[in-house]
Amino acid sequence: MEFLYVTLLCLFALLVTLSLHWLFYKNKPNLTLPPGKTGWPVIGESLEFLSTGWKGHPEKFIFDRMAKYSSQVFRTSLLGEKAVVMCGATGNKFLYSNENKLVQAWWPASVDKVFPSSNQTSSKEEAIKLRKMLPNFLKAEALQRYIGIMDHIANLNFSSGWENKQEVVVFPLAKRYTFWLACRLFVSIEDPDHVDKFADPFNLLASGLISVPIDLPGTPFHRAIKASDFIRKELLAIIKQRKVDLAEGKATTTQDILSHMLLTSDDDGKFMHELDIADKILGLLVGGHDTASSACTFVVKYLAELPEIYERVYREQMEISNSKSPGELLNWNDIQKMKYSWNVACEVLRLAPPLQGAFREAIADFMYNGFTIPKGWKLYWSANSTHKNPEFFPEPEKFDPSRFEGKGPAPYTFVPFGGGPRMCPGKEYARLEILVFMHHLVKRFKWEKLIPDEKIVVNPMPIPAKGLPIRLYPHKS
Ligand code: HEM
Repeated sequence: MEFLYVTLLCLFALLVTLSLHWLFYKNKPNLTLPPGKTGWPVIGESLEFLSTGWKGHPEKFIFDRMAKYSSQVFRTSLLGEKAVVMCGATGNKFLYSNENKLVQAWWPASVDKVFPSSNQTSSKEEAIKLRKMLPNFLKAEALQRYIGIMDHIANLNFSSGWENKQEVVVFPLAKRYTFWLACRLFVSIEDPDHVDKFADPFNLLASGLISVPIDLPGTPFHRAIKASDFIRKELLAIIKQRKVDLAEGKATTTQDILSHMLLTSDDDGKFMHELDIADKILGLLVGGHDTASSACTFVVKYLAELPEIYERVYREQMEISNSKSPGELLNWNDIQKMKYSWNVACEVLRLAPPLQGAFREAIADFMYNGFTIPKGWKLYWSANSTHKNPEFFPEPEKFDPSRFEGKGPAPYTFVPFGGGPRMCPGKEYARLEILVFMHHLVKRFKWEKLIPDEKIVVNPMPIPAKGLPIRLYPHKS
């Protein structure tokens, strides 16, 4: 009897489900989704997506599918989400121009949990205001004052980490440089011991940021959350102390980004909360130093491989160096003269973009290229879909800084910093720190790679697998 009841109950449940399904879908038009496949349940094509990066060719995931399905747009499933990859300059333009109209920023769940403020600040509106203010602290005019400090920190770094060494491993040193710089320029921490105290939790944070969001002891994600709590507490203490120092005249209003943030109000005259400032600085420190250290590492790699390009960078930097009196720091004019060096850095960013792309979320159903993009689906723009595409960069694997001369690449094709309203606010800052790094590097050394065919791993940023060990040859003075 009991068995009969259970069977009837199951049949009833099935009937209700089928009816609801029919009711819900009968009036829905047939959606024409972009071509592609969504792969395995839940993991979708995430493994293929990530593993092409681990093997050093993240563009393979994109180009294989562009060839198979469409050169404009294809469907996939990444990080547990249904996703559409928009390709080429048209795809980039579409996503950059439709921010907050058809799409909005989206980060994987792990990022949102490590940076809770992106969802839980006093209000979402406040977060938008903060984003609007951020470029003010990082635009060229504001940064000009910092060039001398960058020069000073680079000098300390090269004297302590590079000089009097026959061999060095580049990536950790580049990371130390960009992190030290960020600590100094964002919150005025210059003491190397204090910087090192911060460095470990930051490494834990960075490695757990894009990970499976399982918050259990021992998982990278758990360690990242713990590290971010630790850093946030430290930053709050620094912020409170700074407020006191500013009130007592012991700190200046322009000494770093923290002072700027504390003293700048929004359009309504409101100042940022301490926790918001801590989170913004945390985000800047994370977003800022790993990307730039990857770029600096690849500058070293390519200059080792291309002696004629090294020679031109060397000549440009020595001309600047020779024009200065002993001890005189680099300034804005010097940076403006580093044109060839910047073209070289751009070519590095084209071939090894530190960020491979970024996600958005569709905030409404819309049509793209004749296909329906359903609301809630994630959208991805990929730097490689243009950077490594012969349609936009002939002979894409060739290192050729002259691509950036004259008018440079066509719009929406060179996008290491993204584009539109969400374009990287740290672009100018990154330009300065990379150029100052190149100045100090070529001024002191020539070098050669110790592992000629060192593998590149992209996880999520490109890094030579062994960190790029090199042998240094100091210039004879
Ligand atoms: C070579 C170095 C760098 C590269 C290649 C880079 C690249 C990028 C890219 C591609 C984005 C995402 C744009 C998008 O969502 O479409 C981004 C966002 C961001 N970057 Fe950078 N970045 C670099 C350095 C920096 C630095 C030095 C800072 C801070 C000083 C910084 C701060 C940020 C912030 C805060 C965002 C988020 C902006 C938003 O969500 O509106 N970045 N960056």
